[in-house]
Amino acid sequence: TIADQLRKFESLFTLTPQRMRMIVEAFKATLELGLAKHKQTVPMIPTFVFGWPSGQETGDILAVDLGGTNLRVCLVTLQGDGKFEITQTKYRLTEEQKQGDGQKLFDFCAECLKTFVDTHLSAEMNGLSLKPGDKLPLGFTFSYPCTQDRIDHGELIRWTKGFGAANTEGQDVAAMFRKSLAKFVSHTQLSFLSPSPSPSSSSLPLPASLCDASVPPLPPLPFPFTPTNSDTSPQDLPIELTALINDTTGTLIASHYVNPRTKIAVIFGTGCNAAYMERVQDIPKIKTLGIDDHAQMAINCEWGAFDSFKHEHLPRTKYDAAVDETSNKPGEQAFEKLIAGRYLGEIMRLVLCELMDDGVLFLGQNTYKLEAPYAFDTAFLSLMESDPTDELLTIVGIFAHFFAVETTLAERQFFRALATLIGRRAARLSACGIAAIVSKMGYLEEGCLVGADGSLYNKYPGFADRVHEGLVDVFGEKGRNIVTHNAEDGSGVGSAIIAAMTKIRKDAGI
Ligand code: BG6
Ligand code: GLC
Repeated sequence: TIADQLRKFESLFTLTPQRMRMIVEAFKATLELGLAKHKQTVPMIPTFVFGWPSGQETGDILAVDLGGTNLRVCLVTLQGDGKFEITQTKYRLTEEQKQGDGQKLFDFCAECLKTFVDTHLSAEMNGLSLKPGDKLPLGFTFSYPCTQDRIDHGELIRWTKGFGAANTEGQDVAAMFRKSLAKFVSHTQLSFLSPSPSPSSSSLPLPASLCDASVPPLPPLPFPFTPTNSDTSPQDLPIELTALINDTTGTLIASHYVNPRTKIAVIFGTGCNAAYMERVQDIPKIKTLGIDDHAQMAINCEWGAFDSFKHEHLPRTKYDAAVDETSNKPGEQAFEKLIAGRYLGEIMRLVLCELMDDGVLFLGQNTYKLEAPYAFDTAFLSLMESDPTDELLTIVGIFAHFFAVETTLAERQFFRALATLIGRRAARLSACGIAAIVSKMGYLEEGCLVGADGSLYNKYPGFADRVHEGLVDVFGEKGRNIVTHNAEDGSGVGSAIIAAMTKIRKDAGI
């Protein structure tokens, strides 16, 4: 019966405290290795973000955030004292953009930035703290692993989260984005820079289809604009890409700006990753750079890669192995594939498919809709877990509406229990990663906050509670000293703060 099946899945997906502690030990060793040597599986990337913000950073900064699901463009006004204002627009990325040519993807980012600037900055520019001749700093949050040797540069190690755009791995993505900015953004900005801007001079026709839309990018706009300030050459880009950062690093800095007890940041979204602040003296692989030993630098762990290729430490089921093998990057991101929003629905779908093949589920019904890879969104797990009705009517609706199959109450109870197992395992594994950093850095006694963001953390019911339970299972009662908190808008605000911190260092000649 379906009830017997559940016991089998309980044993497959349950993580005991003892197993968790073993994972934490292996995780710690992996973090150390990544700090000691270059080119490790978990790369522990030095970000060239030096130390915490003072909280007094101020100014207007643009941010472009290329994450897993959306592209966001933000104008952030830092007001000091941990306060800020943010205006933002989200644009949805198409599958074609994720898999097509890399330069075109950055062209789309630049086009969206242009649309945003046309829409918002023309209206608000009188309120901006910019003088003619000033450059508006731009922080670029690019949430994929990039090796950096300075803050405004980054070489993409590999795509993650199902992206696969060509001609991008191994390239400097900041340089690629600059190229697109030069193509799309300069002429708008010239009007903005003119000493007495007339509203009409900056009102190029707005491609409405680019606003908050899921449509493919428009072809390059024509170049009909004549600058009102003839001293400004079209090559003078008034927007300056000053910082390339990861979403975890941005979230770390933004969360600390708001609450200085924050020591770690984790993204639980389409992907999963963490950042924290490390002592330069404890990053042996950058010893030769001659950076002051007493300085601190944020590390983008790229922990999603933990246990990749060798698969020695994590409790992978055959469903996890199948998710991996059919992905565009088999062997890679082993930890992320057990945790992140991109994969949880697919794990559940593969279990359902097996039970359908075994004749346990949906006998005699047409199940083709469930058989399509990635048809089962992780949002369904979250909806199933939060179904408030005794009859589990939300689950009835999901299966009837999206997959055209009927379900019995016993099946629905099983689906909900299965979602709980998969969701809880993800949270408990995440707790292992957090515990590894906490234990390595010695944060347990004093306690700390963990800034967290991403769709899983924000929308999956009980996810945070399960992470906290996991921390208690690893550390005992002291695990309660480690508390996650929501850091919404972390990466937009974070990249703005980092751009401001970078400018302060540059102005000081550091
Ligand atoms: C957003 C952050 O809230 O969460 C992004 O601003 C981050 O920087 C994203 O990449 C992660 O969530 P998801 O679900 O979009 O991958
Ligand atoms: C993936 C990316 C990483 C990012 C994370 C969360 O793991 O490789 O850079 O931080 O997703 O978005």
